[in-house]
Amino acid sequence: MIMKDIIDLMPVPVLHKNIGNFINCDDISILKSAELKTMRPISSILCEASNEYIMNEINKWTNYFAHNIIGIEEHLSIETNEVLLIKTPPGNQLSMHDHPNSILSAVYYFEDAPESSPLVLYIEQQNIFKKFDFLVGYQKTNRYNESYYEIHPKKGDLVIFPSWIPHFNPTNMTEQPRYSLASQTWLRGNIPSTTKTRWERYSRAVRVSGEYYAPDLEM
Ligand SMILES: [Fe+2]
Repeated sequence: MIMKDIIDLMPVPVLHKNIGNFINCDDISILKSAELKTMRPISSILCEASNEYIMNEINKWTNYFAHNIIGIEEHLSIETNEVLLIKTPPGNQLSMHDHPNSILSAVYYFEDAPESSPLVLYIEQQNIFKKFDFLVGYQKTNRYNESYYEIHPKKGDLVIFPSWIPHFNPTNMTEQPRYSLASQTWLRGNIPSTTKTRWERYSRAVRVSGEYYAPDLEM
């Protein structure tokens, strides 16, 4: 048996790309010294950043991801209207959560994240045995049975992923705060009805199946 005999059924794309440091030094110091609003009883603290060019850059990449990788129709767009500074002080963590009202989540790192505090994406691989509520042991982990994917961000890294994916940051074990900029996004445009039956969706998939194309990875 070889891997080409295995079909990876509907994989979930995640963008992890270094786009360089596009934020002005002055803005970084403003962001880091801004008065922060505590959103939860735990450690993570958020504040709004009003810098429009930051939102525009995030919007550019989320739209690239949505159109060129996922392949959504051109008349739809993905928009954010706020960028949040996320600060995780030493000894603190960001608990597992998702963003149910958002379509894509984007996280940008304007400085290296501490090694001890990766971004962890969690997809329950009990998906494989979806209808059963028992835990199966595995001989060794692989991409079919793994539940966690760790990203260790470097300065200039951008990560975009579907907002339904639960994610968290483990405890920051260093002496330095962990910073990132995060954004949720919404779908804009003439959004199609969600009342289609499974059969209608399948019929459409059959009609366009000859038009599948490789994602455009030129950016
Ligand atoms: Fe989040």
